Amino acid sequence: MDKIIVRGGTPLRGSIPISGAKNATLPALAASLLSDTKLHLTDIPHLKDVTTMLELLGQHGVSITIDEKLGVEIDGAGVNNTCAPYNLVRTMRASILVMGPLLARHGRAEISMPGGCAIGSRPVDLHLRGLEAMGAKIELSGGYIRATAKKLHGAHFVFDLVTVTGTENLMMAATLADGLTILENAACEPEVVDLATCLNKMGAKIEGAGTSTLRIEGVERLIRAKHTILPDRIEAATFMVAAALTDGDVVLTNTDPTILESPIAKLRDAGALVDVDLDARTIRTRSSGRLRAIDIKTFPYPGFPTDLQAQMLVLMSLSEGSGSVTETIFENRFMHVSELRRLGADIQVRGNTASVRGVGGLRGAPVMATDLRASASLVLAGLAAEGETEISRVYHIDRGYERIEEKLMTLGANIKRVSG
Ligand code: EPZ
Repeated sequence: MDKIIVRGGTPLRGSIPISGAKNATLPALAASLLSDTKLHLTDIPHLKDVTTMLELLGQHGVSITIDEKLGVEIDGAGVNNTCAPYNLVRTMRASILVMGPLLARHGRAEISMPGGCAIGSRPVDLHLRGLEAMGAKIELSGGYIRATAKKLHGAHFVFDLVTVTGTENLMMAATLADGLTILENAACEPEVVDLATCLNKMGAKIEGAGTSTLRIEGVERLIRAKHTILPDRIEAATFMVAAALTDGDVVLTNTDPTILESPIAKLRDAGALVDVDLDARTIRTRSSGRLRAIDIKTFPYPGFPTDLQAQMLVLMSLSEGSGSVTETIFENRFMHVSELRRLGADIQVRGNTASVRGVGGLRGAPVMATDLRASASLVLAGLAAEGETEISRVYHIDRGYERIEEKLMTLGANIKRVSG
């Protein structure tokens, strides 16, 4: 398994482009199963999870054309298998996103129980209850979810809690259902909005994307469409933190600053200098030389993203004073804390709150990645730490960051990947 070795202390300087958003690409790829014609997606990132989703779609029978420059074109006409097998689903929880489309267009879906990140139990009960409300018959047996429906019908469904992929699954299923579906307490994440935009280009009739109430009028069939994936706000914010904690000066291109308001506000509170150019779609992040510890509570969009709390914990470990991070979305998302402590961080976890006391600096050490965003925080810590940090199990990073060590090398980081 590959390792990443970082020698800290170099201020990051320069400019790098942000890739397409993983969490918008995965549902858009799944949406191709709704169509009996072609869906052309551009700006998709080169990530392990994207490869896994393409593999999953391929075994469903769709035909896939990939062009480095032009993106990916998927023809949903050839679907001949509605089973998503354990060997693929166990590596990526987002595989559950094929369930709504398969059920809506083919009347059946057999999905292995999801796996994915080790950040909590992460049930899919709301996905299933929503599909049942739309007329699906759901059976759980042998580690598989078996869903059947002659024809889904519209429903008025209220989510018990905000679920991103739950919203996406039901929104996709509703595009081909008979009649009107209303989803309340729906997720407002930009990636949900991007999926709705893509589906409407495919001929769906979705209103209210970006609000907590979605109205979807079912249609007979979807049409050929082309869609460009929005930039990855979590990748962008991860590099902004890297600039701030290495006393650097980094310009990010191909960003959408309007979907990063909470991270930008929190980074400014923490003492980073952040300049946004909406026309040029760039964000420049510099350190003001003095980082202040702050308090953060994760929350569904437009609140502070849970996918960024691990990265902010590193920044706060290097700030003056004491701060806290309260994780309200997942019940077990502090697995990076024990690894950060090995680098000298002073973090205490009680329940869903991590209290951080700023220390003068971190010292490099061997650490192990546990989940996608936790592994990104270990890379950030290595960039700031004195000496060398060796990060193992970096396959977690490759699931969500495109060529992270190459992009950081472009900014002057002393970082390399070794096979081992
Ligand atoms: C999406 O996961 C993202 N993944 C996650 O990003 C992100 O952390 C999460 O949303 C929250 O923003 C993708 O979009 C592919 P949820 P998702 O359903 O949809 C509970 C990353 O690093 N819940 O919004 O799986 C659940 O247990 C990944 O890129 C139920 O109880 O998350 C959690 O506590 C990590 N029942 C909360 O809701 C359900 O049926 C939010 O989960 C569904 C969810």
